[in-house]
Amino acid sequence: MNLLIINGPNLNLLGKRETSIYGTEAFEDYLNKLIARYPTDNITYYQSNSEGEIIDRIHADGYTVDGIIINAGAYTHTSLAIADAVSAIQSPVIEVHISNVHKREVVRHRSFLSPVCKGVIGGFGLDSYRLAIEALKESM
Ligand code: DQA
Repeated sequence: MNLLIINGPNLNLLGKRETSIYGTEAFEDYLNKLIARYPTDNITYYQSNSEGEIIDRIHADGYTVDGIIINAGAYTHTSLAIADAVSAIQSPVIEVHISNVHKREVVRHRSFLSPVCKGVIGGFGLDSYRLAIEALKESM
């Protein structure tokens, strides 16, 4: 499978950002383990702190990849534009969160993405990304 993982704003700081919530592992280290675990899949990673760049990447890959796993960070809770991009494309999209957003502040309970994604996985730390890959594989 050709898979694209998109991480949104501040997720470039994983490993040093609010480690009690997001853990101490850098995403690049976790990604290397994921790639090793799924040697026959092609896993591409993209991170951006910019809403427009995330939208551009969804447009660019959203008609060709077998699945997109997106953690839009705080844009999850604010971005109708990213939700519209997800609606526009053909590849299935899974929304992922490292933390359980429903255990946190009320502002994090609303997601613009959930209604337009195939499914939502959150609260399992970085393992949420692996669970999303498993979900995509099962649904192919
Ligand atoms: C997050 C949860 C969001 O509320 C937050 O803004 C993030 C990370 C998560 O992975 O738990 O940046 O998406």
